[in-house]
Amino acid sequence: MAGRIPQSFIDELIARTDIVEVVGSRVQLKKAGREWKACCPFHSEKTPSFWVSPDKQFYHCFGCGAHGTALGFLMEHDKLPFPDAVDELAGRLGLEVPREDDGRGPRERPGEDLYELLGQVTQYYRDCLRDAPRARDYLRRRGLTTETCVKFGIGYAPDAWDSVLRRFGGSPEKVQRLLEAGLVIERSGGRDAGHYDRFRDRVMFPIRDLRGRTIAFGGRIIDAGEPKYLNSPETPLFHKGRELYGLYEARQSLRSIDRLLVVEGYMDVVRLAQSGIAYSVATLGTATTPEHLNRLFRVCGEVVFCFDGDRAGRSAAWRALENSLAHAREGRQLRFLFLPEGQDPDSLVGGEGAEAFEARIAGAMPLSEYLVGELTAQVDLSSVDGRAKLAELARPLAQRVPEGVYRELLLERLAQDVRMPAGRLAQLLGLDEGQSPAPAPRDARRPMSAGRRPLLTQAILLVLHYPAAAKTVTDLAPLAALPIKGVEVLVELLRSAQAEPDLTTARLVERWRDRPEGGRLLELAGAESLVTDAAGAARELRTAVGKLISEHGPERRLDELIARSREHKLTAEEQQEFQALLKRRATPGRPPDSA
Ligand code: CTP
Ligand code: MN
Repeated sequence: MAGRIPQSFIDELIARTDIVEVVGSRVQLKKAGREWKACCPFHSEKTPSFWVSPDKQFYHCFGCGAHGTALGFLMEHDKLPFPDAVDELAGRLGLEVPREDDGRGPRERPGEDLYELLGQVTQYYRDCLRDAPRARDYLRRRGLTTETCVKFGIGYAPDAWDSVLRRFGGSPEKVQRLLEAGLVIERSGGRDAGHYDRFRDRVMFPIRDLRGRTIAFGGRIIDAGEPKYLNSPETPLFHKGRELYGLYEARQSLRSIDRLLVVEGYMDVVRLAQSGIAYSVATLGTATTPEHLNRLFRVCGEVVFCFDGDRAGRSAAWRALENSLAHAREGRQLRFLFLPEGQDPDSLVGGEGAEAFEARIAGAMPLSEYLVGELTAQVDLSSVDGRAKLAELARPLAQRVPEGVYRELLLERLAQDVRMPAGRLAQLLGLDEGQSPAPAPRDARRPMSAGRRPLLTQAILLVLHYPAAAKTVTDLAPLAALPIKGVEVLVELLRSAQAEPDLTTARLVERWRDRPEGGRLLELAGAESLVTDAAGAARELRTAVGKLISEHGPERRLDELIARSREHKLTAEEQQEFQALLKRRATPGRPPDSA
């Protein structure tokens, strides 16, 4: 696997990123004093309780308790895994993400050499297509021009068990890379039994990322046979549930993408593009996932799902609808296009041409209409019972739609069928104003109460919220010597904050991300503090540290041991401790454990 991203790089990234910009590019922020506020993107609300602090470089929602740094925001909001969120921030700053050497040689970026290998294999398959009349003939019969094949990098995997293996697997390490890239398969019997090519005698469609690098392949059998399509397995570079085939090519063709058409297959995308409909992408034989939707709406505001008219198509459409509800909002269009039974975009556009097909797209059904239509078909609207059932069916679906204009329109549309004022229906569905329709937020998101916390926790919270207050604690040694679990965390935080006067909350927290205490620190950074300025924080911190020392320090322990000795004889251990404490008192400045 790839080496780790160095902590120093994350630190630099957080130091150079402005969280206001990152959040602001995804959420409409309004200035409010020193901070920025918005309606929370993680739960539905009408009055803003989501705050972004430029000082702390931290966001926090008082409604659902969501909180974190710019990195955390990208992970939560864009549903990105950690390394991708780092990539995204680095990309904004024009930085390359370095990797620590993992002892496997001088690789710098994750899978750098996998990209290169997949690129070489893409070229190899393309070369093979030139010498494969049967494959070329097949593509011609499918109506594809040479130009289209070049544009999509379509190639051919020869009819052999070892053509890629022989060409690219010259050493055990190279075979290992082929395996990691999903290009070869281990023979049953393990490594020693050898390997063979995954793709044989197939037309090859490279699946490319947004930078045009091949990350996987789909291979179609020529003419008939099973399986019709074979895809790369999940690899470090390829996660099927996230990728959209054709997005790179669409971006290459269009200056700006105003609309995306989501279809099912490789051939659909390729054939549509060839006909001049360059804005289609395919989910790779999987249902539309929330990750897909995030990606789609990051590209543009209008998404049209296209499905076969058969039963499988209808059920895929309904699943897409269910996953889309959370993404429905003002300014976005989500529509559904159902094709006649037995047809797919490839066959239709081939038969009727682009203009007729675009007319279908123009007439696609809005999400609300599709939803209401499907539900009303299941009930008898002429009876009171039926209308009550409709409301029942609509409840879990409507609850997924974020509060706002879009949901109101949907409710109004439903209200007509239920024959009830929209407000009354909203109440019935538990969607009346001010009530959060979102599913209960995760526990970690609940705001921590601002009530009494243990002293140590209070002190840690203050340093996290106001790192500048750390300089108030001038001598760390007595604190470090306290026999309290977790005191070392406070000491380390104080040390970092003292070493760098302009450290932000976000940088402090990110430094602990991978450590066992990281989660707890993040939580505290997101918790409410009753202090509102650095001076107040410094005062509180001084008091808290003073109390910690007087309550747990050597004097207190001595008193305890003396009191105990009056009740019973001290144990050998206690006696030792007692002696050590006394000795330390005589030679101040030395921590007791070194005495
Ligand atoms: N698919 C897959 N594995 C299969 C079948 C299908 O991954 N065994 C995916 C492919 O991405 C394929 C899409 O599902 O393009 C749609 O499949 P299907 O409708 O069966 O194929 P078509 O795209 O119509 O393929 P063709 O026109 O080449 O017959
Ligand atoms: Mn087809």
